Amino acid sequence: MLTIAQITDLHVTTGHDPLNSLRNEQRLREVLRAIHRLKPRPTAIIASGDLVDHGEPAEYAALKTIFAECEIPIYYAVGNHDRRVPFLEAFGGPFAPTDANGFVQYAVDFDGLRMVVCDTLEEGHDRAGFDAARARWLAETLAADTKTPTVVIMHHPPILSGVRWMDPEPDAPWIGRLADVIRGQNQIRAVLCGHVHRAFHGMLAGQIIATSPATSIQVTLDLSPIDMERPDGREILVAEPPGYVLVVVDEGRVTTHTCVAGDFEPAVAYTRPFGFD
Ligand SMILES: [Fe+2]
Repeated sequence: MLTIAQITDLHVTTGHDPLNSLRNEQRLREVLRAIHRLKPRPTAIIASGDLVDHGEPAEYAALKTIFAECEIPIYYAVGNHDRRVPFLEAFGGPFAPTDANGFVQYAVDFDGLRMVVCDTLEEGHDRAGFDAARARWLAETLAADTKTPTVVIMHHPPILSGVRWMDPEPDAPWIGRLADVIRGQNQIRAVLCGHVHRAFHGMLAGQIIATSPATSIQVTLDLSPIDMERPDGREILVAEPPGYVLVVVDEGRVTTHTCVAGDFEPAVAYTRPFGFD
């Protein structure tokens, strides 16, 4: 059995934002503790973007300090809150390689699972960037191994959550571009995303699309209509517990668990054999 943990939307920041800084760091540490306690301990972690809040070098330095205590290798993707240059200065290398165009995208071959990491960062915008060059890269990368079970990682989900202020336009060109690439690629078991700070699932082009909860705070599940120009005082973020996703690969079968991190009281212990009657 192989397991990989996905963490996302860490939003680590520094002293100029003391409340968010402390909270997001504590929540990230809580998730990392939970992942280290898993049995078996995951082979790797993929951090799927919004690693820091403002893309600043000091924030990446703070994140590096937190990750220094991590005993599990961490791979990286970038999100809309990241900036490639400071990110790559801090984390560039074998766990965040770039393609020929400088995008942070690459494939990793684990024992029985291929992980293809895509770059959907459009610097200066919150929306996704997935242009023709990136689509071509993904098509070529998927074509290089059509047999091994594969998960695709990308920060922005190409489906709608229903929380309107977080969602893409349903007919955004990048979604069509992605759909054309992943349609019929039977080696793909799931496209795993972040960005929305909530776990939700749907389909695009016959593929399962799933998001992970954030390690930082979550987006409030409010599906009522919203006027994007007129703030109405509604709650938009909520301090629900931090979470992560665990990808389980067992003899070619791939499943994912959406997990809540925290110190919970054990409820029942295994003290009597399980029967079948
Ligand atoms: Fe985020």
